[in-house]
Amino acid sequence: MASSGEQWWRDAVIYQIYPRSWADSNGDGIGDLPGITARLPHLAELGVDALWLSPFYTSPQHDAGYDVADYRAVDPIFGDLTAFDELTTRAHTLGLRVIVDVVPNHSSNEHPWFRAALASAPGSPERARYLFRDGRDNGELPPNNWRSQFGGPAWTRVTEPDGTPGQWYLHLFDTTQPDFDWTNQEVRDEFEDVLRFWLDREVDGFRIDVAHGLVKAPGLPHVDLDLDPSVAATALSPMWDQPGVHEIYRSWRTLVDEYAVDGDDADRILCAEAWVLPSDALAQYVREDELHQSFNFEYLMTPWLAADQRATVTRSLAQAETVGAPQTWVLSNHDVVRHATRLGYPQVSGPQRIEGISADDPQPDAMLGLRRARAATAVMLALPGSAYLFQGEELGLPEATQLPDDVRQDPTFARTDGTSKGRDGCRVPVPWEGGVPSYGFGPGDSAWLPQPVEYGVLAADRQRGVVGSTLDLYSTLLSVRRRLRLGRGTVTWLDGYPDDVLAFSVTATNGSVTVLANLGDVPVPLPADAVVLASSQPRETGAVLGSDETVWLRA
Ligand code: NOJ
Repeated sequence: MASSGEQWWRDAVIYQIYPRSWADSNGDGIGDLPGITARLPHLAELGVDALWLSPFYTSPQHDAGYDVADYRAVDPIFGDLTAFDELTTRAHTLGLRVIVDVVPNHSSNEHPWFRAALASAPGSPERARYLFRDGRDNGELPPNNWRSQFGGPAWTRVTEPDGTPGQWYLHLFDTTQPDFDWTNQEVRDEFEDVLRFWLDREVDGFRIDVAHGLVKAPGLPHVDLDLDPSVAATALSPMWDQPGVHEIYRSWRTLVDEYAVDGDDADRILCAEAWVLPSDALAQYVREDELHQSFNFEYLMTPWLAADQRATVTRSLAQAETVGAPQTWVLSNHDVVRHATRLGYPQVSGPQRIEGISADDPQPDAMLGLRRARAATAVMLALPGSAYLFQGEELGLPEATQLPDDVRQDPTFARTDGTSKGRDGCRVPVPWEGGVPSYGFGPGDSAWLPQPVEYGVLAADRQRGVVGSTLDLYSTLLSVRRRLRLGRGTVTWLDGYPDDVLAFSVTATNGSVTVLANLGDVPVPLPADAVVLASSQPRETGAVLGSDETVWLRA
């Protein structure tokens, strides 16, 4: 494996693969592990350091694999353990590290433990692995007022083995995703064993699903329903960001560190998916003896407005600094509207809309969205720290905003009676070749979600080697970033530019850049002697910096 220096994860660029949507090898319309292995050279050419695989474990797929029935097996729709080993070996040969998802907050209702819980009596050890409780009002009402993240109540009532209406179990997500009880030592031991299982198969780390949700407030008290829902999903809620989660992650850190015996370059890493605000609470997850990374979702939700961007970046860097951790930047993933589409809407201060879009909603300005997305990515990839990319963003893929309701599969759609359109729009299979069925996603005629027609011109083969394409832009940014080691640099904000321009230098050991991003309407002259290292739009020498453009200049 190529060495990327000490503590490789501090500035790594990690590419998220959503296995069902990246590459299909067998023509069933669903992506799979052999498909991924065959396409890995794309990532090596792009110049990322690692890939993160969303779940490929055995699952009834009620939440696209985030409902795991067997944590140590590959679902047959994706392949098998041999296919996984082949993927990892090939990735390592290409110098790419492999991160896998771990889903510790809940299992599938088809997990053997949950089946055993249903077959056992209230109060039994089998039930104690999950959060079963008696209902209120003679058992008729759920134990508390918590709501599922996917809509509807967070409790489902079971029928006891003797046929009578019985206890309720907690599920912060779909009813098919029962929450574990993390006060139970058996649950803790099981997950440490699962981590070891995949570490022994040579994975380089884990992305931890719902990392802020494992521990619930003692007694499972009611939520204060008067709280703004966006606030309720943070530290003020009894189901999120409870102090007890940190003890779990300290123990996991000790465990993964055992595997880093060959020095820093062998570090196996842990990255939290924790939607925690305010951001100083998030920094607690990346203290020295806890996790290596935690996605910066505040950054993801920051509108494309210079003052907001400057404030978020400044605050984020300062907060990471307090605990000696790198920042973990991200603009898109499989749960949010792609940034090429989000940014195609008017930008207003405050957190951005990340919910799914349908044909009945106002449609984005696609050209503007892509232009801004390219500029935003050029800002992100200049910043010190680690960055995660979501599959297809290197092609400038927009969200699919016109999916018919009858193809939608995200449980959110059904659980909210269609009020929330769900997350299918960002999960549409990737186009590899223009002009062929399923745009080369697989050998079959179609993909599990229909691809928008504009994906044809955005296919990877239409962009490869084309100067000025989004793919070319990403490769250039990644190559300059790597050469200058910008991910290890220091940011200094620069004076003397209009308020709508983000202007900063990044000083790194191998060189420095000046980054200018024009978020306003007025073109900004560039210094006459500017040497452009990368530019979010193709440009003539000496041209001005137009609206929604970012340049990296040699400093
Ligand atoms: C976060 C995952 O990213 C999302 O896709 C999933 O639905 C929930 N956690 C529940 O596992």
